[in-house]
Amino acid sequence: MAVRRIGLDIGATEVRVAEVEFSGKSTPATGSGTLIGFAAEKLPRGTVQAGEIVDVTAVGTAIKKAFAGSSFSSKEVHIGVGSAGVVVREIDLPELPMNQLRTSLPFQVQELLPMSTDEALLDFFPTAEREGESTKLLRGMLVAAPKATVSQHILAIENAGLRPVMVDLNAFALMRAQMTDELRSKIVAFVDIGARVTTVIIANGGMPRLVRILPNGGQDVTDAVATALRISAQEADDVKRNMSIGAQVHPDFQAGQDAVTATSRSLFDSIRNTFVYYSGNNPGEQIAQVVITGGGSHLPGLGQFIASSIRLSVSYGNSFARVTIGKKVPRELLTGREAQLPLPIGLAFGEAS
Ligand SMILES: Nc1ncnc2c1ncn2[C@@H]1O[C@H](COP(=O)(O)OP(=O)(O)OP(=O)(O)O)[C@@H](O)[C@H]1O
Ligand SMILES: [Mg+2]
Repeated sequence: MAVRRIGLDIGATEVRVAEVEFSGKSTPATGSGTLIGFAAEKLPRGTVQAGEIVDVTAVGTAIKKAFAGSSFSSKEVHIGVGSAGVVVREIDLPELPMNQLRTSLPFQVQELLPMSTDEALLDFFPTAEREGESTKLLRGMLVAAPKATVSQHILAIENAGLRPVMVDLNAFALMRAQMTDELRSKIVAFVDIGARVTTVIIANGGMPRLVRILPNGGQDVTDAVATALRISAQEADDVKRNMSIGAQVHPDFQAGQDAVTATSRSLFDSIRNTFVYYSGNNPGEQIAQVVITGGGSHLPGLGQFIASSIRLSVSYGNSFARVTIGKKVPRELLTGREAQLPLPIGLAFGEAS
């Protein structure tokens, strides 16, 4: 029996839904699938801010519309969270059966968290085993998501008449959708530059090692251009798409150009800091490649700017690395979005544990 899974990405600019079918021996964990459904619906500005749902009703309505216009085969969806309030840290814990380990998490990790464990949903994803001084240790990623963030997501889904079956971490989904055998053999930094959130996930051997969720993105560039040129955000969004970092521009646009360069540089500095932090904590582990996705990554000149500043190979990600595109999915919906859909597709690849 073919297994079908629906991933739902709630971004600041739109909701995106992807349905993936896994048939034969292919499983979501290791195999590839077929993208059999896709829909996107724009969100009014301000309804989602930096990964937090502000207006549950508006988001619910957009999701409902996305589902109404397409024939998805179920109402069960995999969703993800990834605001700056979500804490993700690599930790070592004494090896225990997973269910016992999960129950013991609140006691083991309280001092590592900026919030009370009562206010967070905690999970742990083992990535490696190692010998400790007296016991075996499990190395893995601790995820602590504020309950308030998760419940807003669940409310929006329920408002749309759907049922969430899995709440994932967006960063894991990003990595999962793009992980090929070639990338699995390297240390890779996946960087998704959205409108209000930039997500960095560094993977070694296909396993996550560092996740950072930064509260900046393409919208900050737009807002800076709007202020500098005294134009609306809508106009500024169009203007910036025609600007290239570091290029010569007409004097009338110089202030806008300077705003693009300054905001991109500050975003880039935050991204680079995560790379420096990783190298500092993992001596000898060199990041070999940077893979960029998200609408914000399309800012003309950004790829070259990052590559020349950090002297690493930078490429655009491929959201469809693990799927073939089904015949019923209208191609025009996907054109130009190769580097913009790793989230909904990666969420569909998620396996509840
Ligand atoms: N061609 C382009 N050039 C420059 N910027 C672009 C381009 N296309 C999209 N963007 C910018 O990308 C951003 C939207 O990116 P994306 O669709 O990945 O965000 P999102 O997933 O909706 O939001 P978030 O991930 O922050 O919740 C906007 O700021 C938009 O201005
Ligand atoms: Mg996004």
